[in-house]
Amino acid sequence: MILVTGGMGYIGSHTVVELQSEGYEVAIIDNLSNSSITVLDGIEAITGQRPFFEQLDLREKSKLQDFFAKYGNIEGVIHFSASKAVGESVKKPLLYYENNLNALVYLLQELLKKSKANFIFSSSCTVYGQADELPITEGAPVKPAESPYGNTKQIGEEIIQDICNVNPNLSAIALRYFNPIGAHPSAQIGEFPLEVPQNLVPFITQTAIGLRKQLSVFGNDYPTTDGTCIRDYIHVVDLAKAHVVSLQRLLENKNDGNYEVFNLGTGKGSSVLEVIQSFERVSGEQLNFKIMNRRRGDVVQAYADTTKANKILRWISKYSLDDAMRSAWEWEKKIRNSN
Ligand code: UD1
Repeated sequence: MILVTGGMGYIGSHTVVELQSEGYEVAIIDNLSNSSITVLDGIEAITGQRPFFEQLDLREKSKLQDFFAKYGNIEGVIHFSASKAVGESVKKPLLYYENNLNALVYLLQELLKKSKANFIFSSSCTVYGQADELPITEGAPVKPAESPYGNTKQIGEEIIQDICNVNPNLSAIALRYFNPIGAHPSAQIGEFPLEVPQNLVPFITQTAIGLRKQLSVFGNDYPTTDGTCIRDYIHVVDLAKAHVVSLQRLLENKNDGNYEVFNLGTGKGSSVLEVIQSFERVSGEQLNFKIMNRRRGDVVQAYADTTKANKILRWISKYSLDDAMRSAWEWEKKIRNSN
């Protein structure tokens, strides 16, 4: 049995689908703070299987202990559950430290009770800040965090590393995501921001469907080809598959040392305007957007060197930016028409 915390969320739900498709039995823990119970229906519609689900907040330590007592056969944990809004983290830092770090500590405490534990951690390319060299390798220095959210990812990695140093029975992989976008091609699951989206792609699709008036493009005077920021946008299904191969690596004891880090991206940078063009191309819609001032805290360019993941995990992203934008649009149309 594989435990997926935050398995009702955006990346978590796509990973549950890929795990089940590979024959794993999955249990989800989620507090539903930023997701809906209907995600289970979407997962079942795709895989024909309903994962075990417990509504539980990982900060409730005794309930987590009860959970592990109930499910004694957990062979691996993929830990997604965390708060992830950068702006909110600046306003409510303590909430972020409590939610993202206490939960991690309690989870690791349970795992250390096992004779062997396999752990996959959701990290972020945000740990690199504005990297000096592009594409960004895993060897690039970790820069001071720009936000409490970013700091929780850095500290989370450090906590896991410190524990791995002294506990050979724990094997962990931290996956540093670049920018996950898109939805499952079936349009049964996808990103469902409950608040006004801060991320580019949900803001684009919500603008096109009429929920938002206009997309603000944050700056076109950056030192890039068209002046807008460059990111490495990766299809969420590709990202989900990388979790499955990472977990398999640990389950088969193929890891090199008990703490490893991998970048997960496509290796290709795209500008904000290229993302908009891709959206317009695949949707046939014309997007209402306006160039505005730069957003505080944005790095100019970030895209991954994916060599390590390609070679060692034997994983490579397959979907294009157009595929991702098409799936994001299909998902947006589906949820707005049915709600
Ligand atoms: C952000 C977070 C990052 C987090 C990631 C995933 C910041 C500084 N970074 O990454 O820590 O891991 O989300 O949740 O917030 N853009 C617009 N208009 C919009 C929204 C975005 O022009 O309305 C631009 C941004 O300036 C940026 C690009 O689109 O150049 C991507 O933005 P976004 O989707 O928010 O992701 P990141 O900022 O890369």
